[in-house]
Amino acid sequence: MAEKERSLRNKTLQIAEVEKENLLKKLLLLKTPAETQTILNRTIHGDLFETLDYLPKAFADLIIIDPPYNLDKDFAGFKFKKKSDRDYLDYLDSWFPKVVTCLKPNASLYLCGDWKCTAALYTVMKRYLTIINRITWQREKGKGSLKNWKNGMEDIWFGVKNPANYYFDVEAVKIRRKVIAPYKKDGKPKDWEETAEGNFRMTHPSNFWDDITVPYWSMPENTEHPAQKPEKLIAKLILSGCPPGGTVFDPFLGSGTTSVVAKKLGRNYCGIEINPDYACWAEKRLEQAETNKTIQGFYDGVFWERNSNPERRAQAAGRTARK
Ligand SMILES: C[S@@+](CC[C@H](N)C(=O)[O-])C[C@H]1O[C@@H](n2cnc3c(N)ncnc32)[C@H](O)[C@@H]1O
Repeated sequence: MAEKERSLRNKTLQIAEVEKENLLKKLLLLKTPAETQTILNRTIHGDLFETLDYLPKAFADLIIIDPPYNLDKDFAGFKFKKKSDRDYLDYLDSWFPKVVTCLKPNASLYLCGDWKCTAALYTVMKRYLTIINRITWQREKGKGSLKNWKNGMEDIWFGVKNPANYYFDVEAVKIRRKVIAPYKKDGKPKDWEETAEGNFRMTHPSNFWDDITVPYWSMPENTEHPAQKPEKLIAKLILSGCPPGGTVFDPFLGSGTTSVVAKKLGRNYCGIEINPDYACWAEKRLEQAETNKTIQGFYDGVFWERNSNPERRAQAAGRTARK
């Protein structure tokens, strides 16, 4: 059958068969216990359950986990089957404590899910870490229903090993917002900035995230992975939770978003993925990140409100989006 013609604006990642052969060679197969140096900045191809015992202890400053949610999902061959609440909890508990051993003493961990599995995520995280918060991400995509509310959100649980001492850089994740009421004191802006592009204030980020869209076909970060996370979302977790030069680990890497964003932001990374195609997509994106460090929605080191179109503004002002 002739290949479907793609719109010129469709930027979804594509990999030729010959290219795939070379990408497969870059993947790490872990069959014996490894030192940190062996796994750093690598994509491990394999089953988490056969790999976790070979990982070093306490190597990660930050762990981001985006596991299969408790629903029927086909990850291109690997089929996750919806379980009872009890069995899903047991599934989480069969790998979560081992992943926790990879955390450094002042490290953090984020665990993603939807409303249906969120109770299980909370329960398992509470057994092994101190829960600090739950982020709600307004996720504007998903099936509508005639008999129910369409789901428009996801949870991201935030836990730490040591609540008295963990890395959190709030300055790195403040949001630049338009000032609605430009209050002045002694004729000078109070906590906001007058610029040629308008009046802006840097605001503290809350645990409700409504400024991030899911990747779609016209975005360069898009792949055909059925559950890909947006780079902007992962960037917030990494900038706040991992010091520059530190290490981020993702045991369910998928299309590679965590590793790619870590690389773009000057952090080390390591990820595990069972599906060879997805692992190759991750490697391809990592190659692209050598030269293109752009993260959509994060420009000049600043998170902008959704639809504020800062890239165009930055170009108009003679600046390039953050490289
Ligand atoms: C929700 S997706 C992660 C998506 C990822 N955050 C991204 O941005 O692309 C979960 C991934 O875990 C992988 N996976 C599921 N079970 C696994 C296992 N036992 N070992 C390794 N990977 C597994 C699936 O193939 C899938 O790609």
